[in-house]
Amino acid sequence: MADGSTPLAFSAAVEAATSPIWDKVKARVTPLEWRLQAPLIAAINDLKRQKNAVILAHNYMTPEIFHGVGDFVGDSLGLAREAARSDAAIIVQAGVLFMAETSKVLCPDKTVLIPDPLAGCSLAASITGADVRLIRQRHPGLPIVAYVNTTAEVKAEVDICCTSANAVQVVEQVAREWGVNRVVLLPDEFLARNVARQTEIGIIAWQGRCEVHERFDAADIAELRAAYPGADILAHPECPTEVLEASDFAGSTAAMTDYVMHRKPRQVVLITECSMADNVACDAPETEFIRPCNLCPHMKRISLENIYEALLRDRYEVTVDADIAARARLAVQRMIDMPPLAVPARYDLLKARHHVDVELI
Ligand code: 13P
Ligand code: SF4
Repeated sequence: MADGSTPLAFSAAVEAATSPIWDKVKARVTPLEWRLQAPLIAAINDLKRQKNAVILAHNYMTPEIFHGVGDFVGDSLGLAREAARSDAAIIVQAGVLFMAETSKVLCPDKTVLIPDPLAGCSLAASITGADVRLIRQRHPGLPIVAYVNTTAEVKAEVDICCTSANAVQVVEQVAREWGVNRVVLLPDEFLARNVARQTEIGIIAWQGRCEVHERFDAADIAELRAAYPGADILAHPECPTEVLEASDFAGSTAAMTDYVMHRKPRQVVLITECSMADNVACDAPETEFIRPCNLCPHMKRISLENIYEALLRDRYEVTVDADIAARARLAVQRMIDMPPLAVPARYDLLKARHHVDVELI
């Protein structure tokens, strides 16, 4: 173990307790790996019960975390909603720091733990609260929408949050409420460009990038089309617009999962973080997953080992200054209070192929 103590053993009891999980993940996990993972999974699930804790696991967690110990799994929007309604005493965020901060902002009285506090995000790191105050001065009277991939300090300065699952809905609603036809949407430039093509509302964007999704380009999609002509290509809206233009579908990680589970394509490519395909593949054995993908180094900091340590030692506790939390809560809660969509929103690819300019800050 990380603290030098004896590794947990793969016993008959562990094997029995984890066998339904093994059945689910065995196409993606080797038997050798499982002998190391199963004892940790059993120990984590015991600790959760003892401590009245839940684990919120993002779609980019590896399968042994996602299927093995996640109580609630999903996209950023789904996890924020679950945090808001959770009655557990402890939330362990199997994801990155901005997600844990969002949980803390929504649940100030709960203990929120992140197994590795260095699990950051290039988008969240791209902008500060001071930047948002300057943007507000430069664009007085315009609503400011922040992607949830931001720090609590940034959320505290904006009017409402959004995720890739509801960005178009949020932009249109806030423009209607404020009686304006332009909205600031930050910090992801590509998400902003992709949203701009879905709406008549003018978008003012910041130049932040997701280091995972910015690496895909149109040439990648063209190569995939040539090599796998029958495959459905699904892209995340944090990708450059040229990638969405060339894809068959675009939506949040939950929307991509929904597409595969309902349409059951014979072959599929998920243009996103690598673990996503592994997790969906465990639930969709009839679909073949073609695997060009990029790893998120921040998401990959979270492991069974550090989740176990987090629960055992109540670490690392996420704290947010009370004043920042109160203001950030308003922005996140406004998003959560919006009527949920019946199915995760998809980006209309006909619209995505029309060029619409955004104003860059
Ligand atoms: P979703 O909101 O689609 O889950 O994606 C956000 C993301 O990239 C998390 O890092
Ligand atoms: Fe941030 Fe991109 Fe990693 Fe998501 S995938 S945590 S947006 S760097």
